Amino acid sequence: MVLLDVPQAGAQSVETRIADYLQEQENKTLLRFLACGSVDDGKSTLIGRLLYDAKGIFEDQLAHLKNDSRKFGTTGDEIDFALLMDGLEAEREQGITIDVAYRFFSTKRRKFIVADTPGHAEYTRNMATGASTADLAIVLVDARQGLITQTRRHSFIASLLGVRNIILAVNKIDLVDFSRDIFEEIAVSYREMTKDFGFASIETIPISARFGDNVSVHSANTPWYQGPTLLEHLETVPLEKAPDEQVFRFPVQYVSRPDPNFRGFAGTLSSGHVRIGDTVVVAKTGKQTKLRRIISPQGDLQEAFEGQAVTLLLEDELDLSRGSMLSGVGDRPIVSDQVVAQMINFDDAPLRAGQSYWLRTETDQVSATITKLQHRIDIETFTPTDTHELALNEIGLCQLQLNLPLVFDLYQNQRSTGAFVLIDRVSNKTVAAGMIRENGHKASNIHWQSLVLDAKARAEQKFQKPVVLWFTGLSGSGKSTLAGLLEKRLHSLGKHTYLLDGDNLRHGLNRDLGFSVADRSENIRRIGDVSHLMLDAGLIVLAALITPLQADRDRLRARFADEDFIEVFVDTPLETCIERDPKGLYAKAHAGEIQDFTGIDAAYQRPHAPDLHLQTNGRNVEELLGEIEHYLTKRGIIGSYGTDSWSI
Ligand code: ADX
Repeated sequence: MVLLDVPQAGAQSVETRIADYLQEQENKTLLRFLACGSVDDGKSTLIGRLLYDAKGIFEDQLAHLKNDSRKFGTTGDEIDFALLMDGLEAEREQGITIDVAYRFFSTKRRKFIVADTPGHAEYTRNMATGASTADLAIVLVDARQGLITQTRRHSFIASLLGVRNIILAVNKIDLVDFSRDIFEEIAVSYREMTKDFGFASIETIPISARFGDNVSVHSANTPWYQGPTLLEHLETVPLEKAPDEQVFRFPVQYVSRPDPNFRGFAGTLSSGHVRIGDTVVVAKTGKQTKLRRIISPQGDLQEAFEGQAVTLLLEDELDLSRGSMLSGVGDRPIVSDQVVAQMINFDDAPLRAGQSYWLRTETDQVSATITKLQHRIDIETFTPTDTHELALNEIGLCQLQLNLPLVFDLYQNQRSTGAFVLIDRVSNKTVAAGMIRENGHKASNIHWQSLVLDAKARAEQKFQKPVVLWFTGLSGSGKSTLAGLLEKRLHSLGKHTYLLDGDNLRHGLNRDLGFSVADRSENIRRIGDVSHLMLDAGLIVLAALITPLQADRDRLRARFADEDFIEVFVDTPLETCIERDPKGLYAKAHAGEIQDFTGIDAAYQRPHAPDLHLQTNGRNVEELLGEIEHYLTKRGIIGSYGTDSWSI
């Protein structure tokens, strides 16, 4: 390190030089990167060597610095350290750090944070975590093997997560006799494979992590290679955007209120910068005010930048709390309760529509239900394919419904505020990572005011089409049996159901009613009403009542929209019902012990046009249920699970 190596006469100038040094450290750009490779590709060796080569410089400086600091009474070295730590804090705040160790080092030209992701079974998850903030990924391949499925997978995940720069490190080049042909073939195939990934730069470098060829020193063994060493490239690769080109995002971590005259909002700028006097907006409410003061641990500031932890004081009293987000006026984030996101499943259990989780962003936590799986990406061909689940490590596009509006950006615009994780509500485990691609609401205004829950919203949360299935038929025809088994089946398919049985309801809601025409009519009206409420709640309702008269059935049907009501006629001949006589009521009616018994001394009018006419004679329960299932599939009430067998 030049500055401290040159002995200077006089304390003053050394002090100045220390100050210069620290300034230089502060002004260095920061590059975040990660290394991806399979277990034997030499990832650890490479990171180890890189740290060793670079850290040598750093520790050297630090030793000098500590000496001089002690001598001249500065605490300069600590400041620099804290600066490097800042980024790490931000990472932790995101709550998505899993098994990733972040190591930092510095060279003359740049500061680095490298995400060291262990290459065990949960690699995808760790890699995704490390890549979510990385500017660059080193993709390692073994020169002897060339590109393998993992190379493809890692590169694809890196591109999904918005990593824009790649170093393809062709490692173990010594084991292929430093072959230029092998190197070039790998380089060409890799470019071809990743041509649609939108990488800003791909640098292919032949290295030997073990012997150090082209890691930080140009290798004499590869005279045909004219490009930079790996470290040189890390030091010089252009960074995407300067902080002042990025939008301002400030998630409030807590409200600081030490006394009644002071109300500050503490947090870390997740992106962009802000100056005193700037107008800021509360993302959710749209309320605006100006920035009065910026307080940092080092005192008041005029301006704050991405990654800085500060307390902001506003001109006006605004209602802000933990989870609120401040932005600039012209570039507000999206506020919506529906998102379309690219998901990566990290869990053994597949992701499916209908499942509910906690969704956590850098700022906020809401409850989320997957409402639809739009597609799965085939890792071999990178083409989207239809699917109803995402298995471990699979990637696909999902729609999610949130219980409350969320403040976010699209991941492609702003990674820090466009990413989230899904957390299992019971085990608290992080099961998936998501990158928000679209606002699920097609109109991209602010939506939260219009958030009145309706039947559709409730049903979407349950991932089902609510409907009323009304079973009509003689006493003993099998209505309750069929409805009960059907309910069980629907339940096993993850549907939310409720069974309203005529007999049961006559014990409670309808206990004041008998079997006169008027009472039956009232009985049917009430249960129709309850069904209607349950339909509105998003349920699949099964009602089993004799419903003997056409007029009652007509009135009933008129209460519902066509697509919401299905009349199922359980057509069992009277003789069969009499023969079965499950409750002994036919016998009693014959004996004159009960009156107005349907089929004996009260009419059963056969339905004119039932939606589903089940002729039960000579058919077993499985066949009948199969027919209902077939019909429900046709109507789109259940998915095409037709191959599943009935479990009764
Ligand atoms: S409905 O006609 O009003 O639709 P509902 O299905 O609620 O009738 O009730 C019919 C059940 O009540 C029968 O399954 C039977 O168990 C019992 N029940 C008792 N008396 C009669 C009757 N007189 N007629 C029909 N069912 C009766």
